[in-house]
Amino acid sequence: MAEILVAYATKMGATKEIAEAIAARIRSASHEATALDAAEVSSVEPYKAVVLGSALYAARWRPEAVRFLQRNAPALARKPVWLFHSGPLGADLSAQKAPRKVRELATRIGADQPTTFGGRLTPQTAVGFFAKRMAQGSMAGDYRDWDAIELWANHIAEQLVAAR
Ligand SMILES: Cc1cc2nc3c(=O)[nH]c(=O)nc-3n(C[C@H](O)[C@H](O)[C@H](O)COP(=O)(O)O)c2cc1C
Repeated sequence: MAEILVAYATKMGATKEIAEAIAARIRSASHEATALDAAEVSSVEPYKAVVLGSALYAARWRPEAVRFLQRNAPALARKPVWLFHSGPLGADLSAQKAPRKVRELATRIGADQPTTFGGRLTPQTAVGFFAKRMAQGSMAGDYRDWDAIELWANHIAEQLVAAR
């Protein structure tokens, strides 16, 4: 079992790829890290630290990410936890405020509010009627900033070393 869990909630795969990049970066800093679908994690007890990321849809987190936070809140309160969400597309990639429930849960477990990473919406990956329509528009594209994601993961890896 890996030391560090990077859990994700995705609909169209972009957030999963971000989670996998974060886990890979943490691994290259000599920690065991695994990226898993948040819905498939039954307990966080075995992990020393947890990263959780959700895609943003209509300003909300995916329900499985919110459920993950609710279900595991007592255990997460005893561990280092980092949160992110993936969403903004187009010219304005500014930080997005998490929904109120997520903000409250973050406070409850003692984690910082989620970091925002740009999202991806492309005709090749879009799932569902609205997404496919939006993917034909001017906002479509892959706005994930892999340098920013790596920097953030490095920052986590450094804190994990300091906590050893
Ligand atoms: C119908 C729809 C609604 C969306 N709503 C938001 C939103 O409210 N805020 C945001 O930042 N991004 C929003 N997005 C962009 C997605 O969150 C972005 O494409 C994200 O990276 C998708 O992640 P996933 O591939 O992991 O599901 C929306 C996309 C779609 C298709």
